[in-house]
Amino acid sequence: MDRYAVIGNPIAHSKSPAIHAAFATQTGERLEYGRILGDPATFEIQARTFLSGPGRGLNVTVPFKERACALADERSVRAEAAGAANTLIRLPDDRIRADNTDGVGLVRDLRDNHGVDIAGRRVLVLGAGGAARGILGPLLAEAPERLVVANRTAAKALELAARLGGAVEGMGLEGLEGRRFDLILNATAAGLAGEVPRLPADCLVSGGVVYDLMYGDRSTAFVRWGLEHGAGQALDGLGMLVEQAAESFFLWRGVRPRTAPVTALLRSARKRPAQGPGEGEGE
Ligand code: ATR
Repeated sequence: MDRYAVIGNPIAHSKSPAIHAAFATQTGERLEYGRILGDPATFEIQARTFLSGPGRGLNVTVPFKERACALADERSVRAEAAGAANTLIRLPDDRIRADNTDGVGLVRDLRDNHGVDIAGRRVLVLGAGGAARGILGPLLAEAPERLVVANRTAAKALELAARLGGAVEGMGLEGLEGRRFDLILNATAAGLAGEVPRLPADCLVSGGVVYDLMYGDRSTAFVRWGLEHGAGQALDGLGMLVEQAAESFFLWRGVRPRTAPVTALLRSARKRPAQGPGEGEGE
């Protein structure tokens, strides 16, 4: 049987095995999908060993996405642009290809699942780490009126914006004073500490959209911030998680699973008590 896995550290919380098992059942594809606790000292060896043995593909999550991109023999344009990969594919000639499905997962969730049009909108991305890097290119491709990336440490946002050659404006959080956005995406790690980046109270237009790349068993701190500041829609990253998984599944198997039933399954499981750890990140 073809084998796949998600590798990260920590990994016990990962919902990817449940998502891919549901995709396999739905599509009739025969595969096994496990989880691997990545070792920071030997990540490259772990990934290569899995992919040169029974493994046909890997999903990669925090903190190994940059290293996964670097270890591959070839990269998709979107992985190259992000400098990070969440999907590794063993090619027929046994070389390893890196791809990044996070951005397309986000855009599909916003556009197709929630009817949020990015074209012509003023969009703000919070954070300048790996999570932010993975989504800027795909957001730009949707032709927003303006795309701003703001970070606690301004220099990192400026550097990231410069890499994208003028299409994105970078600034520190304090630069947001007096600015207004139709869509604000949280790609920071602030939620892990139950925090929200320090934002001007009026930077979201009334009825605007907030999107937290994280998800949790309860609503995340940023989703709550959105609801308290007039958001028309306040979304967490569970839909993105399922969409990026579907794109990985498609890259590996050539079959596109339906995502809505799987997202609904995860949401209903989450409503039941004692569902494990609090918050996680899109994988
Ligand atoms: P990831 O790969 O998940 O993006 P990362 O590269 O460690 O993780 O980046 C974390 C991001 O969250 C950074 O943009 C960080 O801001 P700094 O560059 O200033 O460190 C941001 N972040 C973490 N905690 C935050 C907080 N409490 N408020 C605002 N931003 C925070």
